[in-house]
Amino acid sequence: MESSRILLLFSLITSLSVHELLQPAEARSFFVFGDSLVDNGNNNYLVTTARADMPPYGIDYPTHRPTGRFSNGLNIPDIISEHLGEESTLPYLSPQLQGEKLLVGANYASAGIGILNDTGIQFLNIIRIGQQLAYFQQHQERLSSMIGPDQAQRLVNEALVLITLGGNDFVNNYYLVPYSIRSQQYDLPDYVPFIISEYKKILRRLYDLGARQILVTGTGPLGCVPNALALRGRNGNCDPELQRAGDLYNPQLVQMLNQLNTDIGSDVFVTANAFKMHMDFITNPQAYGFVTSKIACCGQGQYNGVGLCTVASNLCPNRDVYAFWDAFHPTEKANRAIVSQFMTGSNEYMNPMNLSTILAMDART
Ligand SMILES: *[C@@H]1O[C@H](CO)[C@@H](O)[C@H](O)[C@H]1NC(C)=O
Ligand SMILES: *[C@@H]1O[C@H](CO)[C@@H](O)[C@H](O)[C@H]1NC(C)=O
Repeated sequence: MESSRILLLFSLITSLSVHELLQPAEARSFFVFGDSLVDNGNNNYLVTTARADMPPYGIDYPTHRPTGRFSNGLNIPDIISEHLGEESTLPYLSPQLQGEKLLVGANYASAGIGILNDTGIQFLNIIRIGQQLAYFQQHQERLSSMIGPDQAQRLVNEALVLITLGGNDFVNNYYLVPYSIRSQQYDLPDYVPFIISEYKKILRRLYDLGARQILVTGTGPLGCVPNALALRGRNGNCDPELQRAGDLYNPQLVQMLNQLNTDIGSDVFVTANAFKMHMDFITNPQAYGFVTSKIACCGQGQYNGVGLCTVASNLCPNRDVYAFWDAFHPTEKANRAIVSQFMTGSNEYMNPMNLSTILAMDART
């Protein structure tokens, strides 16, 4: 018994880098949940049509190869990892997520999913949020057998967590087709509180699983993405119906998170106002160095907003002057503007505090 424990300890020490052994307190783990805006490549391992593992995805990634990220380069979690001074989190399904890599955290996100189980059913096999949480629990068991239950719990309590959900419950559910089942079941003003109440259960479970520093992003301006401009908006204006969805959803999300914080008695949940962060560069693209916020870099049809981004699509030569990479997802450049607001934004952007403040605070348990 004792000798096997010593052996385990020995193999652990040899598998950890010297840096980690010397500075255990400085390494903050990062766990990511959600949809395509934050998926680092889990869907590459699944039988699904929601994937970004073909060129020109990844054209500006360090390897210049597709990784499964819905971006020309880095996505929001990658840029947050940079700020944490950590390598990017691996997709949970990656075979490379072993040994010391488990200490960095993981990315459980899966393109196409939503708050509701029936969101994204057209994408077939994707990791719904309940399964993402189950993977988080499994990850903790693996950590526990590696560093012991107390250390594992501490790592999770002190970790940063990001969850990005909700957009697909509109785009890939309620508004997916005219007369969708959900839209027959609920008027929009009743659908929003329904998905918020389901989201509250998910977030409560995340807390119960040990997460204590949780960034929750609201939905972006769904009516202003190139796909909505091409298929729903008029004369290049944002689609008012999808915008109304965000206008209803985002304030109720903030209210629900405030309620959770009150119930818990601590500011565990922090809301990122993704709507406002996006609207800033959509209404004033030039201020961010963009030549357009309407036309996607990669795509076809009006605003390059119709269909998927593939090798056969139009492709802009300079991704840094476009806000949107494909019909739905921002470029790395836009992602950097978003994360910079995560870091230092005022209360209008980050409520009740920004990420610099979180990172400066002593880790809580
Ligand atoms: C979603 O599916 C999971 C797994 O089948 C189930 O546990 C959960 O209760 C479902 N959620 C809702 C809201 O029906
Ligand atoms: C956000 O971060 C900056 C530092 O970068 C800080 O000065 C400011 O007070 C923070 N704002 C809030 C609301 O926490």
